[in-house]
Order: sequence, then structure tokens, then C-alpha cells
Amino acid sequence: MKAIQIVDLTGPDSALELVDLPEPEPTHMLSPGEGVVVDVHAAGVAFPELLQTRGQYQIKPPLPFVPGSEVAGVVRSAPAGAAVTPGDRVAAFCALGGFAETAVAPPFLTFALPDELDFAQGAGLILNYHTAYFSLLTRGRLRAGETVLVHGAAGGVGTAALQVAKGLGARTIAVVSNEAKEQVALEAGADHVVRSGGPWKDEAKELSGGGVEVVFDPVGGSLFTDSLRSLCEGGRLIVVGFAGGSIPEVKVNRLLLGNTEIIGAGWGGYAMSRPEVNLEIGAAINGLIEQGFVRPIVGERFPLERAADALRAIDERRATGKIVLDVR
Ligand SMILES: NC(=O)c1ccc[n+]([C@@H]2O[C@H](COP(=O)([O-])OP(=O)(O)OC[C@H]3O[C@@H](n4cnc5c(N)ncnc54)[C@H](OP(=O)(O)O)[C@@H]3O)[C@@H](O)[C@H]2O)c1
Repeated sequence: MKAIQIVDLTGPDSALELVDLPEPEPTHMLSPGEGVVVDVHAAGVAFPELLQTRGQYQIKPPLPFVPGSEVAGVVRSAPAGAAVTPGDRVAAFCALGGFAETAVAPPFLTFALPDELDFAQGAGLILNYHTAYFSLLTRGRLRAGETVLVHGAAGGVGTAALQVAKGLGARTIAVVSNEAKEQVALEAGADHVVRSGGPWKDEAKELSGGGVEVVFDPVGGSLFTDSLRSLCEGGRLIVVGFAGGSIPEVKVNRLLLGNTEIIGAGWGGYAMSRPEVNLEIGAAINGLIEQGFVRPIVGERFPLERAADALRAIDERRATGKIVLDVR
């Protein structure tokens, strides 16, 4: 099969190679002895793959390895007891190995792909939408009627958070850096859009009538202190990632003064060891798809052999929605 490997840690321009590899065995490290084998049609591209080309991600497999955490395609084989069978269209989280014509995922992270979604959308479903749901609801205790401010709102996780928040009955304020991203956030269903380069904290306070209940933050960096200031009393700031590049530090007296909380939300570490959590979140996301709230926004698409260009789009802050590799 054709696949993209990371062969060294020199970054997206030089670390990737298109190779021919043997087909993988039907087993996965998260479900030893059992794996759903998928003929990949589309592979999702995300921040971890970019970090992996530099050896900066927490999962550091020995070189060379095939990156790619999620795919959409057609099941070739599935173990007994799996919820999917050969021929099914699926979205699957494989953690590694997705930038290839064939990938293997654990049964508990393989979901039938609803007819409403095409393969490219399926390749943007699990990482971003499960993270958004886990962060907003499981960790952030979002309630209907609350207002959520979403940073990086035109990105993969950001667009997912806008749609999931809406589906949970919340009002959304998207924070983006430019006009093109403003359009993407609106397409994703944002109620309001403000610019990260403008007085977004004051705008958010005004739009929410005094402060937002929840901030969803996949960006971190210099936005963090103003994010805390934009919360209402009892508000929650959910730490999702650090796309801005730096990990913020905070003086905790701010939490005391505002009666606010900072909550960490790491979906992967939590969900990988809890099959039942994935099934619950998968069912909830399916419900949101059926109700029309969830429709992954697909941005740029590249053929498999141009994986480096796909990673560069993320690196250069040009990505909107989900970047996808068309594999078949
Ligand atoms: N906690 C979890 O379980 C979990 C799960 C998945 C992903 N994540 C993390 O979430 C973060 C976002 O992932 P994503 O897939 O949504 O990425 P993405 O599609 O590239 O979006 C990230 C957004 O961050 C903003 N940003 C601000 N400063 C940036 C910079 N210096 N470089 C790049 N982007 C910058 C950009 O929006 P503007 O230009 O509009 O500011 C961009 O749209 C990553 O750190 C990822 O590792 C965490």
C-alpha cells in the first residue's frame, strides 16, 4: 500500500516520504489482537501530525512511522462483536497510521458514518467533535442557555466547538484573526464573531450581558488573561490546546476574585482507556448530526503525496476547518 512516513524530525518540509509498505495486520495497540481494517478514502490532518514531524508531540513512536490519527473509508474486515461490518462506511480514530491506503482502528473508536456526511467530513469527525463534546460537556459542564466564547474558532477544533455548543443549546461568540476566518466561523454557525486583534474581551462582555459562562481555548498564549477577564462570575475557562505556541501562566488570585475556574480537557488521554466513553460520545455526536447541528467544515484538500503541503497550511496558520488528504 501507499503511505506517508515520518522519517526524521526536521519538520514538515523534509521529514515526510511517500513509501510502499506491506498492509497492516488486523490488530491495534489500543485493542491488541483486534482491529477494524479500513480502506481509507480520506485522512484527517491535525496539529499532532505537524508536531510529530518535529518530535514535539507526546506520542513519539520510533522512526520511521506512518502518522495520521483519523480516517474515513470502507471497512474491509472487523473482529467479531464489532459494531461495524465489512462494506460499512466508517469514521475511525486510528491514533497513528492514517496517512495510508489501509489503516487499522480499535473497534471502540470506529463509528458508522451517517449518510449525511461524505468521507472528507468523516475524516474530520472524531478528533475535533469528540474533543469539543468532551471539553464543553463532560469537563466544562455546559448548560443550555449559556454563552460560550470559542478561540481559534475557524480551525478544526474551533468549528467543531461552535457546532457542538449550539447543539447543546448554547449561544456562541467566535474569536478569529481575519476576514476569511470570520466567514468560516459564520459558516460553522457562530452567533457572533469578534477579532482577536481587536477589543474582543469588551465585545464579548457586551454581547453576553456582563461576561460569558464558558471560554473554549485551543490557542492559549497571550489571550489567556483576557479570557479569564471575559468570564462572568462562576464562569469556566476550558484549556484545550496551545496552537498559539506558548503555555500561559496565571496568577490564581484572579480565580478567587471572579469565582471562576480553569478546567483542563485532554480528550485523548481520557478516552483511549475508556471504550464506553467513546461509545457514549459517538452516540451523542450522531444525535447532533441527525438534528443537523454537526456538519464538519472541510477546508483545503490535498492528495496523499502532498501531505507536507497539508501540514504546512496548519504550520502557517492558514488552515480553516479540517484539512483532509484524499487517499482514494
Ligand atoms: N485537548 C485535546 O484533547 C485536543 C484535541 C485536539 C486538538 N487539540 C489542540 O487544539 C489546538 C488546535 O487544533 P486545531 O486542529 O483546531 O488547529 P487549527 O485548525 O490549526 O486551528 C488553530 C487555530 O488557532 C489559532 N492560532 C492562534 N495563534 C496561532 C499560531 N501561532 N499558529 C497557528 N494557529 C494559531 C488560529 O486561529 P486565528 O488565526 O483565527 O487566531 C487557528 O485557526 C492544537 O493545539 C491541538 O493540539 C487538543
